[in-house]
Amino acid sequence: MILLQENFLNQSDNNLPPRIREPKLLQIFWGLLQQKDYLETMAKRYGDIFIGEFAGFPSSVVISHPQGIQEIFTADAKLFATAPGNSIMEPLVGTNSLLLLDGDRHIQRRKLLMPPFHGERMRAYGNLMCDITDRVMSKLKVEQTFIARESMQEISMTVILKAVFGLQEGERYEKIKIALIDMLKSFNTPLKTMFLFLKVLQHDLGSLSPWGYFIRQREALDKLIYQEIQERRNQPDSSREDILNLLLSARDDANQPMSDVELRDELMSMLFAGHETIATALSWALYWIHSLPEVRKKLLQELKSIDVERTESTEIAKLPYLNAVCSETLRMYPVVFFTQVRILQTSMQVMGYEIPKGMMLTPCIYLAHHRPDIYPEPKKFKPERFLERQFSPYEYLPFGGGNRRCLGMAFALFEMKLVLATILSHYSFTLAESSPVLPARRGLTFAPSSGVRLMVRGCQ
Ligand code: HEM
Repeated sequence: MILLQENFLNQSDNNLPPRIREPKLLQIFWGLLQQKDYLETMAKRYGDIFIGEFAGFPSSVVISHPQGIQEIFTADAKLFATAPGNSIMEPLVGTNSLLLLDGDRHIQRRKLLMPPFHGERMRAYGNLMCDITDRVMSKLKVEQTFIARESMQEISMTVILKAVFGLQEGERYEKIKIALIDMLKSFNTPLKTMFLFLKVLQHDLGSLSPWGYFIRQREALDKLIYQEIQERRNQPDSSREDILNLLLSARDDANQPMSDVELRDELMSMLFAGHETIATALSWALYWIHSLPEVRKKLLQELKSIDVERTESTEIAKLPYLNAVCSETLRMYPVVFFTQVRILQTSMQVMGYEIPKGMMLTPCIYLAHHRPDIYPEPKKFKPERFLERQFSPYEYLPFGGGNRRCLGMAFALFEMKLVLATILSHYSFTLAESSPVLPARRGLTFAPSSGVRLMVRGCQ
């Protein structure tokens, strides 16, 4: 393999990394439909840094070496822009989303949105997270087989609707939930995801066509969101602590409030980024815990050493083995395989190569997490590795890094730990899968292909 890599390195011209030589069309379909397999094959053929092509996008430099990732995460943010690479998200989150902002607007919006996802404000959501988990899980009966992903999605969506929108259960809350689930159905299989990535497929050919269906579901959801915004503008309540309230009272440098469209785009971003991801991570965690008896045993021992019901949520979040299980879950199959793309505004040196202006830099989380030099036996689920060693932010990056690091990282880890502790201290399950579960594309995330079937053995 080393010989093969050297061979390609020698062929690289103008001090550029090796360029994938497989036909473009093959790269697109292989990359979209079987991304794990595609990435592993390309890394074997071309090494730690290589250039791929993707329809309609600039050439993309895929990097899995910590040195290259460090160079990108620590570089001046002004070197990069997000568009057009991140525009695949635009149909979902709109053009005013933090995900698509650059420069000063990005810095200002991050400053505004960060506080509720950290410190005291975030901790206040601990009880909410545990109560919602109890409520959703209590619907299950002994001997019942259920799809973990569906229950986890119900939990994470309820948490985000209450924390971000401050919605109370009621008619609009139910309608938003249903509209969101319907909209996300547009991308819940690898094939349907093509519509997000390939702009040529984005034509509204009526409600029965895939894109037409998506557009109509999005309109239905938008209508509900705008109704909520209007109502909250008409009846301001400064005592409310949800994120919508914070955004409604925010003013920019010119003392202007956010427009309805800006509010809608930010709410959609958090709805979208903040619940699919956590639901997927929790489903994987439940899969590993129930596939590996030793992991389950150790975790239960740790949870039994405290009284989960009476322990402060912040103390639960500090449990070392629980933390290691969550970390290994996000290492093994990261929820997103790549960070957001960074489009070079000027040329930049990465790992000794001179990457020209206009190319996209794409740190590959999946490949970085599967390097045998950093993670021995990378295909094995071993939480212990996180007890034995600390990994640098360039070796372990499930939430990306640098100026675009995930806004919801602390919130997501907190929720993952509290939901798992609550579930495992009240319920026991067996895995009801007959073969290993693998990741499959689900919109922009990689989720367990079957959703993870579990059977309820008992509840306390
Ligand atoms: C397990 C759960 C989650 C994972 C694995 C995850 C992962 C990521 C990754 C990899 C990025 C790109 C970072 C980069 O380009 O360097 C990102 C960005 C982002 N995430 Fe998350 N995320 C999760 C949960 C959340 C939650 C709960 C929220 C908020 C409610 C959230 C909101 C965002 C936002 C707004 C950005 C864009 C940040 C920016 O561009 O400045 N995420 N996330």
